Amino acid sequence: MIYYPLATLMLAGIREILIIATPQDRDRFEVLLGNGQKYGISIQYEIQEEPRGLPDAFVIGERFIGTDRVCLILGDNIFHADTFINSHILPNLEGDEATIFGYYVSDPHRYGIVELDAGGNVLSIEEKPAEPKSNYAITGLYIFNCDVVTVAKELKPSARGETEIVDVIKHYLRANKLQVETLGRGVAWLDTGTHTSLQDASNYIQVLENRQGLKIACLEEIAFTKGYISRSELLLLADEYRNTSYGSYLEKIAK
Ligand code: G1P
Repeated sequence: MIYYPLATLMLAGIREILIIATPQDRDRFEVLLGNGQKYGISIQYEIQEEPRGLPDAFVIGERFIGTDRVCLILGDNIFHADTFINSHILPNLEGDEATIFGYYVSDPHRYGIVELDAGGNVLSIEEKPAEPKSNYAITGLYIFNCDVVTVAKELKPSARGETEIVDVIKHYLRANKLQVETLGRGVAWLDTGTHTSLQDASNYIQVLENRQGLKIACLEEIAFTKGYISRSELLLLADEYRNTSYGSYLEKIAK
């Protein structure tokens, strides 16, 4: 799963990445991805000892963030659309606002929900409401300025015993620094948090990959097409997978 959010970041030109994982998973990720050099990026790792909420990522990542803008993407979120990076992510990587992305879903009670008026102004933001006021889920992709570290440190846990990302978002709303981008019907936002949604995501990816013969979230391919690694470096990676269809795919891309 980690490949999909990483692919989104790499396609957006974000090459300094911090992966925050459970103590059990951290080493597995490192075995898989290393320090990112093979993809022409830098990957660091931190552990979250226990689930303390999404905003804890900014506390754990304080030194990594420094004075930069920061983009958080959840490991179980998949975004797929031709125009997504250029129209929605890139324009929001600069500036001083926070940006969140709203996506129309059939099951809003499962997500953070943003209610907008006809002019696109935010009327309310709620985490997993029993009676959602809109169908616009707040996706697991967030862009903040470095103030987010201080904001995250001051949060109190909610009834579920964790700090909530919607409370960070509300802070930026109150400061008049929140930008909400709604994603159109041509964008696929999938999550893999339940068995059914994981199955749906697998089917979606399989249908497209089979139809086109092109892979989705192939990090080696993205690294090559974005110019993060050279053709000869891609061929070396292909060689690691020799005699497999994945290796043949990478060779095809190199040619
Ligand atoms: C989290 C956030 C929620 C957001 C969702 C997106 O939910 O708390 O606001 O809509 O990610 O995937 P959780 O993963 O805790 O269910």
